[in-house]
Amino acid sequence: MSLQAGLSFEQAPPFALPLRFFLTAPLFLLAAAGLIVWAPEALASRWAPQALALTHALTLGFLAMVMLGALLQMLPVVAGESLPAARRVAWISHVSLVLGTLALMTGFLMAEPAAFGIAILLLGGGFAVFLAAASISLARAVAGVTVNGIRLAVLSLAVTLLLGLALALLRAGWWFPPAIETAIAAHAAFGLLGWVLLLVIGVAWQVVPMFQITPPYPPRLARWLAAALFALLLLHAAALLFFPAAVPIVDAALAGAILAFAVATLRLQSRRRRKLADVTLDYWRLGMASLLACVVVWLAAQFWPAWADSDAYPLLLGVLFLGGFAVSVVCGMLYKIVPFLAWFHLQAQLQAKAGSIPTMKEMIAERRMRGQFRLHLAACVLLAGAVLWPQLAIAAGSVLALSALLLWVNLLSAVRRFSGYGGRFS
Ligand code: HEM
Repeated sequence: MSLQAGLSFEQAPPFALPLRFFLTAPLFLLAAAGLIVWAPEALASRWAPQALALTHALTLGFLAMVMLGALLQMLPVVAGESLPAARRVAWISHVSLVLGTLALMTGFLMAEPAAFGIAILLLGGGFAVFLAAASISLARAVAGVTVNGIRLAVLSLAVTLLLGLALALLRAGWWFPPAIETAIAAHAAFGLLGWVLLLVIGVAWQVVPMFQITPPYPPRLARWLAAALFALLLLHAAALLFFPAAVPIVDAALAGAILAFAVATLRLQSRRRRKLADVTLDYWRLGMASLLACVVVWLAAQFWPAWADSDAYPLLLGVLFLGGFAVSVVCGMLYKIVPFLAWFHLQAQLQAKAGSIPTMKEMIAERRMRGQFRLHLAACVLLAGAVLWPQLAIAAGSVLALSALLLWVNLLSAVRRFSGYGGRFS
């Protein structure tokens, strides 16, 4: 089943529903950049309160924001029918994700227990509503490699959320959960490698061949990779708790799975049939190169204990994974999804003849997207540099801010074209 071909106008939610997520996300990227400029110590230690606020501005405010919007758009297609109470689910999850993320960031920055309490209620409630609706759709969906990837990603989100809530209860002073160090490690692993990476992998099986006109992924890889990664995450948590000596072995297997995905994607992209320049392709390539860099940085830590124990090591991994991989792939996807939806709704609402409305490619000027990609690339290089040379942090944050702002302006330009041609949002 193709997600694009399967999209019928009756099943599709109104444009406003995913759009509010897509237009909010760049503002959190801007907030993350502002945090780096305002408090460069965010890049000095992973446990600095500013670093934890930065992590969640990126993981919740930017990444989860786009991923929830995209899933609310895609789930009716995979389930073959509309999402239950789609508008209410979107409204509740959007408002609580925005306010809950701000509360969590405030909690970290101010060490304020009450802010953690508010974050627990908002993020716990908002994600619970989203997870309930997503589970109903995913239970109805016909199994396939993409649906399986999405199921495991959503399950990982539930695990991440529960562990995150437990850790926040600790910070609010309401509960002292056991095995805190393991809980933090498992929360980070299920959040980054489960929710974020598994969702990208599940979606990649569909969108890389479709958008970049490549041959399909090797069927065996597509069948096993997501399940193997999820099983390794469970093993990782179990090893942390019961058998710490096995952790490096599980980590090596996780690195192998990541390597397999990145190499397979880069190979497919080098064999694409239409060799036209495309910003989304560049974003995906940057994302895959960053995944490879994560594996190299991890490998260096296995042989060089001083590096493994340094403050810079986990921060560099975080910058490469979040900024270089996840933010890049998500930006690349936004540049496909938003123009496609603008074109799709305009076409369906106006019953337009070809030529009377802009094509998908005309929704956002290629030159502006490329300019934004270059800024993002420069921001990634500077951020990685700033982990090693802190004097680069302000420049890194400033370039990231410009890139976030231009992303927002670019997405808004598609929305302006849509409404300029008489498109309706709801
Ligand atoms: C859903 C996506 C999420 C991702 C990807 C994510 C990721 C992370 C990461 C990577 C860390 C550890 C930072 C480090 O090890 O340097 C962390 C810590 C933390 N997260 Fe999340 N997180 C998510 C959601 C949440 C939610 C929903 C909450 C709470 C409501 C939360 C609360 C926390 C807390 C309290 C810590 C700090 C642990 C401590 O030091 O006390 N997270 N998160």
